[in-house]
Formats: sequence, structure tokens, C-alpha cells
Amino acid sequence: MNQTIQDAINEQIKLELMASHAYLAMSIYCEEANLPGCAHWMRLQSEEERAHALKLIDFMNDRGARVILQGLPQPQIEFESPLDVFTKTLEHERKVTASIHRIYQLSQKEYDPSTQVLMQWYINEQVEEEKNASDVIAMLQMAGGSGVGLLMVDRELAGRTGEVEEE
Ligand code: FEO
Repeated sequence: MNQTIQDAINEQIKLELMASHAYLAMSIYCEEANLPGCAHWMRLQSEEERAHALKLIDFMNDRGARVILQGLPQPQIEFESPLDVFTKTLEHERKVTASIHRIYQLSQKEYDPSTQVLMQWYINEQVEEEKNASDVIAMLQMAGGSGVGLLMVDRELAGRTGEVEEE
């Protein structure tokens, strides 16, 4: 497997694990803020990001490439509000999307069809991830971000079910 692609995927593994770590920290913040629905949503999101990293690790292993796990920085643990949490989530997802698009382009340039097909899966996934975060932001903005409105959004978030896909 091309070294440039290997390096890019190793970086992506780090980015997915950083997202997992960041969302776990957000889940803890929500729990402390007495928002169990928000905490549940973020816990599931954290698990989903870990699954994204594992999917890349499996792909590298299957192709005989070298996985190099890197250290993760401490995630942000304090937030201004649930709206702040989901705004930062969307920002993070946009960075992930840009990174996935870069690997997709790289796989075209280096002629690596398998990576290209895998990146197609992540491209579709990112559309979903950005939409999910945007939807919650819109709900929080409509609800006014406190009191009964916030309680209703929290109840809605409590209904999220796991979407971790294994292939
Ligand atoms: Fe795996 Fe949300 O990016």
C-alpha cells in the first residue's frame, strides 16, 4: 500500500479517535448538566467515531499496511451550553469531512481504487453526521436553549438509537 495513503489513513484514525474522545467529554459535560438525553446522544456518537477508527484499522490490516496509533490531546471538557456543545460538534465534523475528501482525492491521484471505495462510504457517512449535528443545533435554537424547551430537546435526544455499522 502506497506510503502517502498509509500516512493519510493513520492521520484519519487519529482524527476519528480524537472525535470519539471529544464526544465522550461532551457526554460527561451533559451528564453533569443534568441533560441525560444529550449525554446519551453524545455517548453513542463517541462509540460511532470509535467504530469509524476501527473500520480504518481493519482496512489497513487487511491490506498489510502498518497501523501507527498516536497519542490523543486532552479534549475540551468545559462548555458554555448544549448549543455550544453541538456547534463544536458540527465544526469538528466539518474538519473530518475535509480530511476524508483529501484522502479521496489522494486515492484518485495515487490510483488506489480500494481506498477510493472505502472513502466513498465515509463521504456518505459525513453527510449524515453533519446533518445530525445541524438538526440538533436547529432544535436547540428553536427551543431557546433553556427551561422547558431544553428539556423537550433533551427528551428527543434520549431517543437516539445506536447506528454503529460493522461490515
Ligand atoms: Fe467519523 Fe464523525 O466522523
